[in-house]
Amino acid sequence: MYETINSPVTLGGLTLKNRIIFAPTSMGLKEDELLAKMEAIAAGGCAMIIIGDVPVGKRGFHSLFTRKGAAYYRRLTAAAHEHGCLICAQLHQSDSDWKGMLRFLPGILTKRISHEGLRRLLNDQISPYITALPPEKIRRITSSFGSAALEAKKLGFDMVQVHGDRMCGSFSSSLYNKRQDSYGGSPENRARFAVECVSAIRSALPQFPIDFKLAVRRENPHYGNAGILQEELPIFVPLLEQAGVTSFHVTLANHGALTDTIPPASHPFFSQEGCFLDFCDALRGLTALPLCGVGGLVHPSFIEEQLQKHRIDCAAMSRQLIADPDWVKKVREGREDAIHYCIRCNQECLGGMQQHRGVHCIYDGQIPCCK
Ligand SMILES: Cc1cc2nc3c(=O)[nH]c(=O)nc-3n(C[C@H](O)[C@H](O)[C@H](O)COP(=O)(O)O)c2cc1C
Repeated sequence: MYETINSPVTLGGLTLKNRIIFAPTSMGLKEDELLAKMEAIAAGGCAMIIIGDVPVGKRGFHSLFTRKGAAYYRRLTAAAHEHGCLICAQLHQSDSDWKGMLRFLPGILTKRISHEGLRRLLNDQISPYITALPPEKIRRITSSFGSAALEAKKLGFDMVQVHGDRMCGSFSSSLYNKRQDSYGGSPENRARFAVECVSAIRSALPQFPIDFKLAVRRENPHYGNAGILQEELPIFVPLLEQAGVTSFHVTLANHGALTDTIPPASHPFFSQEGCFLDFCDALRGLTALPLCGVGGLVHPSFIEEQLQKHRIDCAAMSRQLIADPDWVKKVREGREDAIHYCIRCNQECLGGMQQHRGVHCIYDGQIPCCK
């Protein structure tokens, strides 16, 4: 039963013990609570944890380069390895113009500007910000992906994932990128930023596995603003592969509503289990590299079927493993009836993040490991 879920797979030369990956998830928790959660997820049997939003910058909160940041990541990688779980750093560069946002600080502090309001303001700044970024600054940022990957490897990470949303995604998108130089205009030019990020990692680490979070934008109906239009995939995918990508993690592009990329069960378009797997189908003909699907994946039978049909090579889950870190163990032991299934209510996970309470689950307290 579920032999494909439980079978190993190789991504860029790295062997995963099964097909289940914890999707990148910023948890907004204090360090000890976060470590306990990651340890529970690793102990629950998934093959790899992707740590969401690891900044490539040299300074600031959770930088790989500061003493505090390095100690934090060392604790995380050691905790995962202790349970035989691999760990990947999702390298990202924000595309928010934080300096430009200073004028909104009073509104944020007095709570006149809500979390959603702030997101809208930030989104409005993206296009002018990335369109005006000087080329020297762009090259500094793209080369920092190489140094960040080197640092991540030193701190114990087994793989890096380039966050194809955020700055990579806004450069890729004709909706945001209005540049008239070699980083803007044609799809080839809009791919240049992401390609340079990947190339910088490949030069720094010739043998290291590089996953790419491929953020896809769709029309009719329109969802996702950053990222790559479905029709442009035949141009972007080979360029990324030539630059050194060894696997793809495929999902909807961001910079719209968070409830589109993290869809609740009541979502008008993405209510189905495996709601973004169509994007994997679009990629299959374009690359032979392994594809990881994500989005509302919950049931072992559904996931096994998608793996067997070769729609995906791995299944990533965020909310389901938050709901029940022991999902893999229970599936392996034939105890799927005991799984606490995620109902995609978004109440305590996305809700907890938006209300600055940290990511939790409505089941917390009901599962021994989450008390
Ligand atoms: C609370 C929360 C935080 C997230 N943080 C990140 C992140 O840091 N980086 C990222 O690429 N995706 C992030 N995601 C998106 C997930 O990786 C995933 O794509 C999405 O939740 C859909 O998968 P699911 O249905 O298994 O939850 C986050 C999702 C949630 C629920």
